[in-house]
Amino acid sequence: MIKLFKNLLLVGLVCFTVIACAQKKSAITEFDNENPVFYDTDSVHINAHGAGMLYVDDTYYWVGEHKVAGGRGNKSWVGVRMYSSKDLYNWKNEGVALKVVKDTTSKLQEGSVIERPKVIYNDKTGKYVMWFHHELKGQGYDAALTGVAVSDSVTGPYEYLDSFRMHPGVWPVNFNEEQQAWAKELLNQDIGRKEALEAGVYLARDFEVGQMSRDMTLFKDDDGTAYHITASEENGTLIISKLAPDYLSLSDEYVRVFPGGNNEAPAIFKKDGKYYMFTSGLTGWDPNPARSAVAENMMGPWTALGNPVRGTEEERKTTFRTQSTHVIPVEGKKDAFIFVADRWTPQDAIKGEYIFLPVEFEDGKPVLRWYPQWDLSFFDNK
Ligand code: DGJ
Repeated sequence: MIKLFKNLLLVGLVCFTVIACAQKKSAITEFDNENPVFYDTDSVHINAHGAGMLYVDDTYYWVGEHKVAGGRGNKSWVGVRMYSSKDLYNWKNEGVALKVVKDTTSKLQEGSVIERPKVIYNDKTGKYVMWFHHELKGQGYDAALTGVAVSDSVTGPYEYLDSFRMHPGVWPVNFNEEQQAWAKELLNQDIGRKEALEAGVYLARDFEVGQMSRDMTLFKDDDGTAYHITASEENGTLIISKLAPDYLSLSDEYVRVFPGGNNEAPAIFKKDGKYYMFTSGLTGWDPNPARSAVAENMMGPWTALGNPVRGTEEERKTTFRTQSTHVIPVEGKKDAFIFVADRWTPQDAIKGEYIFLPVEFEDGKPVLRWYPQWDLSFFDNK
């Protein structure tokens, strides 16, 4: 009797293992925004928040913030993780591409803040270049630095170069001498944030030490020119800078965009020769209404196109409870772009979810609608 019971137990165990393995191995064939916990091919929750993506040799690479559990997970204890995929649904863990270090004299030490890493490939140097928002350990969000790292291989390891304030001692190309003088004059006057931002007072304040950089992204244009786009001036104004030809530093050419617009979370894509940008407003980890904008030239002028979300009032107010991070151009499909966004869970950072939605166009404007489940055939015959 005991032997029969043991045998039955064994058979049950084998069946369970076979079924579990079969389930684990079955490939994902759609984006499921109702169950937005993306699992990697080892069935582990993807850990790459504030994502960036790039496409290399028939493969998509997803780079993002590795977060840990709890509130401390909003700081960096591991670094920047990467995944790869052939189809955008099934992602293989490629490990930690940029590691934080124990050395307490390094800016990259454990417990600093690394957000929104992005990687682009430099065709001339053959190097992969990563940029990210970097805050120094123990300084909250005051440092407002942009960081840069480089690698010969897309998945790394990336060699950390430095983190710094942008453009010390250089004025933006769209801020003339009269504006410079006026901003300096207002520096010590007691004026409100809106007026200060419009006049460029924070720009003048940080002229010598360099401009702040927080939420950022990169955009590489068809001709190889690359741009760094970031929330500056106390998150009140976007700054777009041309990268140097090797992408390892910023050139001196930069512009202010939407002074006083309070934009975060920029994500850029190009369609039919025009540049489009999604951003969010400024409410910390809480969602808010997205914004969109268009330009004929990356260096502006940019024209606001309003809230891109089409749906219920709640969806428009919260952008489906998400914040933009990247737009993926889908390879091999015309006019196919995917809006990638984070659904943050700051109280338990590792649990943050990822929402993928197709970008649609209406009257020349990019728009976003909620699709609980969808796949790439969405873009066929459009
Ligand atoms: C919103 C930003 O988009 C995030 O990347 C992060 O910096 C949080 N703010 C911090 O509050």
